Amino acid sequence: MPDSASFGWALLGPGSIARQFAAAVQGLPGTHVAAVWGRSADRAAAFVAAAGLPPQVAVADLHLLLASEAVQGVYVATTHPAHGPLVRAALAAGKPVVCEKPLTPGARETRELIELSRARGVFLMEALWTRCLPVYQGIARWLEEGRIGRLRSVASSFCFPAPYDPHSRLFDPRAGGGALLDIGIYNVAMTRWAIAAAARAGAAPQPTSRAVLAALAPTGVETSVAAQLGYADGTTAQFVCAFDRLADNGLTLHGSLGRIEVPTDFWQADAACLKRPGEDEVWLRLPHAVNGFEYEIAEAMRCIAAGAIESPLMPHDESLAIAQELDVLRGIAGAIASPDSASPA
Ligand SMILES: NC(=O)c1ccc[n+]([C@@H]2O[C@H](COP(=O)([O-])OP(=O)(O)OC[C@H]3O[C@@H](n4cnc5c(N)ncnc54)[C@H](OP(=O)(O)O)[C@@H]3O)[C@@H](O)[C@H]2O)c1
Repeated sequence: MPDSASFGWALLGPGSIARQFAAAVQGLPGTHVAAVWGRSADRAAAFVAAAGLPPQVAVADLHLLLASEAVQGVYVATTHPAHGPLVRAALAAGKPVVCEKPLTPGARETRELIELSRARGVFLMEALWTRCLPVYQGIARWLEEGRIGRLRSVASSFCFPAPYDPHSRLFDPRAGGGALLDIGIYNVAMTRWAIAAAARAGAAPQPTSRAVLAALAPTGVETSVAAQLGYADGTTAQFVCAFDRLADNGLTLHGSLGRIEVPTDFWQADAACLKRPGEDEVWLRLPHAVNGFEYEIAEAMRCIAAGAIESPLMPHDESLAIAQELDVLRGIAGAIASPDSASPA
């Protein structure tokens, strides 16, 4: 039995990422999984059993769940097009929300959700967990100290081979499929993060030029995207995201005096290396306390306790800027629009 001061999370959408989130909540002191809702009561019950939670944690009625005083925060973990209606329902019920990325498949709806959060005064955060990982705080310190001089370019890859299946959420446009919304969002988000951190600015500017090479699946969504981005001050960025290959999946920040490498799986990184000519490498290793999701959970709980409606690590305007950039890149790639997707806001 959790004590009355423990923060109760409700999980909506009992799929694979919700399992990771539940494991992190279970490994973090002061919080617990209070409720799990899925459109299939059987799958929600099976999720609860597999997580070792009491059966009554599976709740069939979403409105009862959102009205429950046992719920202090809602985590939305459905596929992307179902995020919007669930976020709206939770915010309308006054429940703080952490919603999986992308917040919505297009910038128009992302803006609507942010406006609702602001109008209701209720916390909303896109679950871009990478921005909450401790290793990026260490990288930010290196950038602030000028350890690589002036940041000149950012390079990253996020690729994995997935067999083509028109019914998989990765390839189905009705499920918000496509490499940019699923994985390229990390490349875009962390490129923006690095440029802003290096400039000690709240946010990065949008690129002033873009070149995009994309391959589309028969369903019309991107299987692979290689993008080059240029900024007004001469900084450049490049990234590849793809469902048809393996890559190093690292992120490198190139500066005028050295570089910082996140050697692999940058979206879940726990290590980074500083390299300067003529000097020994400096490694930063910060293993996750649980599985890495605990940092975004702790950050959301910290903000909610402080009465904030957004997190400085993943503010509303950043979610909107990322969604706008993804709209532009998907447009250049010629990808089919997702159901909730709209032209850049
Ligand atoms: N943070 C990360 O590292 C990370 C990693 C992977 C995915 N994600 C994000 O997490 C989300 C879910 O991905 P996943 O890999 O967990 O997918 P998944 O395993 O397919 O699970 C999706 C869940 O959404 C539910 N769902 C689908 N459509 C729904 C609808 N219209 N209404 C209500 N529930 C619906 C599914 O229910 P049924 O079982 O009934 O179909 C299932 O419970 C995506 O937005 C994805 O971008 C984040």
